[in-house]
Amino acid sequence: MKKILSSFFIFLSLNLAAQTAAEVKMNVFVSGLMKKMTLEEKIGQLNLLTPGGGIATGAVVSKDVEAKITNGQVGGLFGVIGEAKIRQAQELAVNNSRLKIPLLFGSDVIHGYKTTFPIPLALSCSWDIAMIERSARIAATEATADGLNWAFSPMVDIARDPRWGRIAEGSGEDPYLGSQIAGAMVKGYQNGDLSKNNTLMACVKHFALYGAADGGRDYNTVDMSRVKMYNEYLPPYKAAVDAGTASVMSSFNVIDGIPATGNKWLLTDLLRKEWGFKGMVVSDYTSVNEMIHHGMGDLQQVSAMSLNAGLDMDMVGEGFLTTLKKSLQEKKVTLKQVEDACRRVLEAKYKLGLFDDPFRYCDAGRASKEILSADKKAAAREFAAHSFVLLKNNNQALPLKKTANIALIGPLANDKSNMLGTWAVSGNSEFAVPVLEGLKNATGGDANIVYAKGANISDDTVFAKKINVFGTRIDIDKRSPGEMFDEAVAAANKSDVIVAVVGEASEMSGESSSRSTLDIPENQLTLLKALKKTGKPLVLVIMSGRPLVLNWENENADAILFTWHGGQEIGNAVADVLFGVYNPSGKLTTSFPRNVGQVPTYYNHLNTGRPNAGDIFQKFRSNYLDVENSPLFPFGYGLSYTSFRYSDIKLSSASMNSGGSITASVTVTNTGNYDGEEVVQLYIRDMVGSITRPVIELKGFQKVFLRKGESVEVNFKITNYFLKFYNNDLKYVSEPGDFKIFIGGNSRDVKDIGFLLLK
Ligand code: NOJ
Repeated sequence: MKKILSSFFIFLSLNLAAQTAAEVKMNVFVSGLMKKMTLEEKIGQLNLLTPGGGIATGAVVSKDVEAKITNGQVGGLFGVIGEAKIRQAQELAVNNSRLKIPLLFGSDVIHGYKTTFPIPLALSCSWDIAMIERSARIAATEATADGLNWAFSPMVDIARDPRWGRIAEGSGEDPYLGSQIAGAMVKGYQNGDLSKNNTLMACVKHFALYGAADGGRDYNTVDMSRVKMYNEYLPPYKAAVDAGTASVMSSFNVIDGIPATGNKWLLTDLLRKEWGFKGMVVSDYTSVNEMIHHGMGDLQQVSAMSLNAGLDMDMVGEGFLTTLKKSLQEKKVTLKQVEDACRRVLEAKYKLGLFDDPFRYCDAGRASKEILSADKKAAAREFAAHSFVLLKNNNQALPLKKTANIALIGPLANDKSNMLGTWAVSGNSEFAVPVLEGLKNATGGDANIVYAKGANISDDTVFAKKINVFGTRIDIDKRSPGEMFDEAVAAANKSDVIVAVVGEASEMSGESSSRSTLDIPENQLTLLKALKKTGKPLVLVIMSGRPLVLNWENENADAILFTWHGGQEIGNAVADVLFGVYNPSGKLTTSFPRNVGQVPTYYNHLNTGRPNAGDIFQKFRSNYLDVENSPLFPFGYGLSYTSFRYSDIKLSSASMNSGGSITASVTVTNTGNYDGEEVVQLYIRDMVGSITRPVIELKGFQKVFLRKGESVEVNFKITNYFLKFYNNDLKYVSEPGDFKIFIGGNSRDVKDIGFLLLK
């Protein structure tokens, strides 16, 4: 007995030693609090409600919220916007509930808070990790100044299907870049210390694989091999966990036939046991209840299944609140499971410092000073300009002279309501700077800018109704299409250059906004064709939340600047780029297909046994009869006003062993007439593997600034880490043999050289 006891104490002290002093203190506090809590109060902590007022993204909005807070039946709220309202709700919790446990306050802080930045897909095109981290840091400062302590971001779902509207919210198709961005966003929000009043909890979502929905249709089935998950889809979530994200949101889709929200393999075996995640897992909006539709049982059953799987908080659906007590009595869940979940919610509150001061984030003084401040607007302008991708620029059509006579045409040229992009729940489109205003600001009246709307975003009233759910985004003009056309063509005829601002309304992408075509709406294309006939140089500024199919545009426009939905300062940023104040440097993070039939088109695909050779159709090869395999614009692609030349790659050695490294170097020279930035990209291919390996995979990149005429040597140190992958046994290994390195300014136009990984 003595022996058993002493080994128990050794175990205990070792265990305690593994915890930091701060963790021990937190455990003592939380355990003490939980001793005072009734079962109902413990279950209450697992309940996340929205009283409405924000943007409800499901059919349900919570009822009797005030009474539930008073009764200790609520752990947190989301969709409550504004310091005063948050203070009011927090007062209810800490003054009126029995144990005075403060609430969490969450929100979809996705790309900025009140100061709205470009959509995340756009930000990713900057390939500027420090800038992206800064965007999250600024958003955290602003959101916490308004009372929030929890951001439902970053969204890190790898997406290779532009039909899926939520491609707008993530960082594109690549796991390496996606992982860098995921980690940076977490750092930006949390800044290494949750207890500060200007940091908040990050929530990585949607765990997992949400971006791989069949057919690009939102919420749809996902089915993929473990090898593909581990190598291609899971890395960004893992990177966010490694960066210390305090919370994770489960996704709507199934994984191996089991909804993520009730998937024990996902939420416990992988997330907690394999990855060591210690924070809190919240469901997506009613995703517990939605398991009923998935065919997993009634509300009691799916709630028990979710708790068993490792879910801690139930968003909106109240399945936990209404059924867990019964499940406990019927032994469908254990008290330990309820308590573990409750502990994790309380720990989150503790780490945020809410038990020390529930009003830590409620400071009316901060809100008035920090929200929408001049420095944040300046950042929004900078971020936007850095996110734009120049897809075409024939004969240096751009930059424009400020004195040029510009015909500014298009439904998005003088529009405020679509500039913020999807998921800008706290942004105010009234503050958006449309392109017309931006050009006027830049020219101070020097340039002769004539504006004409030219067309509606769409003429289809039925379609417009679907898009206008959060307010008017497609504003169908009182004038006939013909009248608008004539006005636009007349303006174009009098100009030196046409700048046509066309594309998608903001709600044409985002949640539940899948499309089966990827063209610019037909009536806008008709307008562009009429403008083309004028013979004037045609510059397109295209706004969108997803990659589009741009064949006609690419063949006929002189220049194409793809700006995505660029946030509230978009107009000023477009002016900065069109007039050459900022030389564009964005590179695509998703491939742009030639047609929808090619989808999914992604650069890091596997080879087939019958690869297609160079886009020319060959019978009995893996290709299409009617379109090339290659995308119109590949991953990593984007032009500058200047040009860059790459030297051949030099290797420090032709071989390395797994403990060593080699350095790959290229000299990049700015050969054009402007100073500019270039994203130098490193790709690697494992030539022979135990499983088939992608034809090319991003493994590094550096964004360099070069004055005209200047050269720089860019070095990439390659270690074993860059050669590893998950093999068929899901072991993370590198395999000796031949590798190839590719370096270039995009995934298609690269130099290459081989090397050997020794045994
Ligand atoms: C549903 C979305 O899938 C998720 O991203 C979001 O955070 C929640 N609604 C809350 O608004």
